[in-house]
Amino acid sequence: MSQRPEITITFAQSLDGCIATSTGDSRWISSDETLRLAHELRAEADAVLVGAGTVRADNPRLTCRISGRSSPLRVVLDGRLSLPADSIVITTALETPTYVITSERAVSTQEKKVAQLTANGVRILTLPGASEGSSTSPDSLSLAAVLELLAAEGIQRLLIEGGSGIITSFLQDGLFDRLVLVTAPLIIGSGIAAVGDMGVRKLSSALRLRPTTPRLLGPDLVWELYRE
Ligand SMILES: NC(=O)c1ccc[n+]([C@@H]2O[C@H](COP(=O)([O-])OP(=O)(O)OC[C@H]3O[C@@H](n4cnc5c(N)ncnc54)[C@H](OP(=O)(O)O)[C@@H]3O)[C@@H](O)[C@H]2O)c1
Repeated sequence: MSQRPEITITFAQSLDGCIATSTGDSRWISSDETLRLAHELRAEADAVLVGAGTVRADNPRLTCRISGRSSPLRVVLDGRLSLPADSIVITTALETPTYVITSERAVSTQEKKVAQLTANGVRILTLPGASEGSSTSPDSLSLAAVLELLAAEGIQRLLIEGGSGIITSFLQDGLFDRLVLVTAPLIIGSGIAAVGDMGVRKLSSALRLRPTTPRLLGPDLVWELYRE
């Protein structure tokens, strides 16, 4: 197996398993107490990774705001190089280092975007997209290759913060060690599911995790679960 960092996936969901409303509103599902936990997880990590969809929807800072603790490197997985150049992670890349991992095709066709990002101090790392004839997009990157790239950059502890597409694909590929799941006491209804289709058709093939004792943090339930 190729080299990869130790991976924690974390997200805050409603009782009915949504990480945002149908319009993408996710701020804030959890309480102030669990927001502090999110910052502690960032402080423990060498890098925090999100998908381009989360940057487009939430425009997050992804820094650790606990006094005296440092922020992790920020990594955005963005196969099409679609993230807005005025996103906070881009405009603050000189203060908090930011890597964008994208496809070779996107870099070769979007010179202006590449110049904008690098002028802001962003480091762009490229990987080949899916091969011709494949059913996936030419800008779709292999997660194993992404992780190998990060391991080669010295990232030993990686925190994955979403969104739905990223959570689903890392869980589906079994690319995680720990899941820190925050469940807040609210019901959203038809929102954005935390986890999308993982191709599970029989319960026997569902992903079962090893639980530890859940704890209450403010009004939220926090559960640490491990890959079997
Ligand atoms: N409650 C929480 O804890 C929490 C945390 C984070 C986010 N969220 C919510 O989650 C929602 C966003 O979820 P999302 O599924 O739209 O976005 P996402 O998972 O953040 O990003 C998905 C996008 O990332 C890119 N990407 C993902 N995997 C890739 C791969 N293997 N190769 C190349 N590119 C890849 C693609 O970008 P392109 O589309 O450009 O191809 C893909 O559409 C927002 O509503 C946000 O508020 C909630």
